Amino acid sequence: MKKIDGASQMQVGELRAFSVDGISVGVYKHSDHGFYTFEDACTHDGAEICNGHVEGTEVICPRHGARFDMRDGSVRRMPATSPLEVFANEIKDGELYVEIDNF
Ligand code: FES
Repeated sequence: MKKIDGASQMQVGELRAFSVDGISVGVYKHSDHGFYTFEDACTHDGAEICNGHVEGTEVICPRHGARFDMRDGSVRRMPATSPLEVFANEIKDGELYVEIDNF
């Protein structure tokens, strides 16, 4: 697990990208104690998906509008057809850690 410096200061409803060991990780804070974490790269054409926005549990790509469910990465709307890579996460001592070791 890798610590994401700064994620613990995020507000509920905030979407941000963090660089972790050279990987751009998208982080969405969905509740006081909960985050969705995923690769910040759209599977359609590589757009930085954190420049898009969120509706419910879906993140929407800013380039062509593909939608992904942040809980499991599944595609909810074309033009993407492959799921988003999602990372397990946990909070320890108030800090967010993400599982990217096998990525
Ligand atoms: S790059 Fe994301 S929908 Fe095309």
